[in-house]
Amino acid sequence: MSKVELSNKTIFITGVAGFIGSNIAKRLLQDESSVKIIGLDNMNDYYDVRLKEYRLDELFSYNNFAFIKGNLADMALITSVFEKYRPEVVVNLGAQAGVRYSITNPGAYVESNLIGFFNILEGCRHSYDKGHTPVEHLVYASSSSVYGTNKKVPYSIDDKVDNPVSLYAATKKSNELMAHAYSKLYNIPSTGLRFFTVYGPAGRPDMAYFGFTNKLKEGKMIQIFNYGNCERDFTYVDDIVEGVLRVMQKAPDKKSGEDGLPVPPYAVYNIGNNKPENLLDFANILEEELIRAGVLPEDYDFEAHKELVPMQPGDVPATYADITEFERDFGFKPRTSLREGLRKFSEWYKAFYMSE
Ligand SMILES: NC(=O)c1ccc[n+]([C@@H]2O[C@H](COP(=O)([O-])OP(=O)(O)OC[C@H]3O[C@@H](n4cnc5c(N)ncnc54)[C@H](O)[C@@H]3O)[C@@H](O)[C@H]2O)c1
Repeated sequence: MSKVELSNKTIFITGVAGFIGSNIAKRLLQDESSVKIIGLDNMNDYYDVRLKEYRLDELFSYNNFAFIKGNLADMALITSVFEKYRPEVVVNLGAQAGVRYSITNPGAYVESNLIGFFNILEGCRHSYDKGHTPVEHLVYASSSSVYGTNKKVPYSIDDKVDNPVSLYAATKKSNELMAHAYSKLYNIPSTGLRFFTVYGPAGRPDMAYFGFTNKLKEGKMIQIFNYGNCERDFTYVDDIVEGVLRVMQKAPDKKSGEDGLPVPPYAVYNIGNNKPENLLDFANILEEELIRAGVLPEDYDFEAHKELVPMQPGDVPATYADITEFERDFGFKPRTSLREGLRKFSEWYKAFYMSE
């Protein structure tokens, strides 16, 4: 693998107002004062835009951070960002996320995840034109959803992932295929990361832990899918940030094959907790932590607010990451326990929504 020095570099982060993107930008700005971060986000209202503004506000205090409000699918804009700023490292996290929404709004996924990613690949490709400083490493988000209803656990990057059960998953698998073609054709080092259920403070309100919290606070029922027989490999956001930072600094090597053509400098990894949790156990810990943080009263009657329901279309019963290759190449594995992570989420939730 080739070392990618981050100091004094320009880093282009898409989806920078998003949950994962904002946390990565924040950590880079805190740790590497010599980097320049160009962040892009279209600030769409798939979920409460105030959360995106709140995350961005934390970044605006750094003068080496520049924000562009715009759409990944706008080719002229993306081309101009690459030409004006000449980023050496690109981290593509901008995407339409969520499995269920892809059933009612498929067009959003084609626009952001396919056309948007194509524009990023083209920007990387043309960075190699005319002897300019090229993109040294493209890191992009894939997803555990590419595994579909894989029966074999844990999920390994060697497993066949040709049977997506949602359009979201199909766009993420497509991203890996598109990146492979561009790595092969234009020798662009790229690394795809299959994230497994990332959670934490200021996370995504469309995800179960956040939705449960909103509902429980309002005294509404929460629905536990597949009658509670669901397992998720929850990964705390700080662990994802640490993992992505390590990945950014190690790109797949450029080499030539026997035919004299480049062997694609291409890699895909799982990045997950490697420890799946049952949804019912998860809900119990969440409830305890919500009480501890003062989001819910001590005597809250959980049993009266829990409903066990069947599986939803597009959902999968289990996710479980095999991270052998990730640990081998980056010397790191997620270390935050679910209780610790949910404690931080609950404390943040109390401060953000309930402090007057
Ligand atoms: N959070 C998870 O558990 C998880 C799991 C697997 C994969 N991922 C992937 O990781 C990435 C980041 O996820 P996240 O949880 O931070 O999601 P997020 O929705 O919080 O962040 C994505 C950001 O991208 C922006 N965006 C969407 N379409 C855009 C477009 N066309 N142009 C510009 N900006 C656009 C959104 O406004 C949002 O701020 C996504 O690619 C997602 O699919 C996340």
